[in-house]
Amino acid sequence: MRLGSFFILSIFLAAPAWSVDPPSDASVRGGKTMEPKIIVNSGRLEWVPHKRELGAWPTLSYQDRRATPEPQRAAMTAPTNGDAARGKSLAWTWCIACHTLPGDEWPGTVGSPMWHYKQYNHADALVYQQIFDPRVFNPHTVMPAYGTFGLLADQDIRDLVAYLQSIE
Ligand code: HEC
Repeated sequence: MRLGSFFILSIFLAAPAWSVDPPSDASVRGGKTMEPKIIVNSGRLEWVPHKRELGAWPTLSYQDRRATPEPQRAAMTAPTNGDAARGKSLAWTWCIACHTLPGDEWPGTVGSPMWHYKQYNHADALVYQQIFDPRVFNPHTVMPAYGTFGLLADQDIRDLVAYLQSIE
């Protein structure tokens, strides 16, 4: 097949997919959560009800209509008083998707690697603020504002600070 006719053919093959009508409000239609399903060998999708109702799930995602809280400064009171072991387990839950931590075989590369974090000698209060609300330093960051959004408590963040600062 010549290249030109391949392109023309692929436009015809792809066309039915374009005519699929995606639900206007993300994947919620008529109060029901829908998901796309491939119609085998047709090049088309159909929208079928999702087995769970995701519309009511409270997240800070596109489904969430709450106003985003303003960036918040957080003054960490000394001493850090964090539990590094607990911080490590929190980090493996909340941070590892974006940051690389020692012992992690599938490094997240969205944020900075945390190997040898101790060497940077950052002030605890600075690291605390970054976790509490990184938008204070970078208004367009993709990192969640764990404190302002109420995802982590003060002691959780102290534990994370203690863990990061302990990484030799
Ligand atoms: C969605 C991705 C994402 C997640 C999840 C995430 N971060 Fe970040 N983080 C970033 C990015 C990107 C930066 C770079 C600076 C910026 O854009 O704000 C960053 C920067 C940082 C910094 C400052 C840079 C440095 O190396 O000192 C710290 C500290 C940090 N993150 C800690 C954490 C901790 C602790 C968690 C988990 C509670 C976490 N991050 C979760 C994306 C993320």
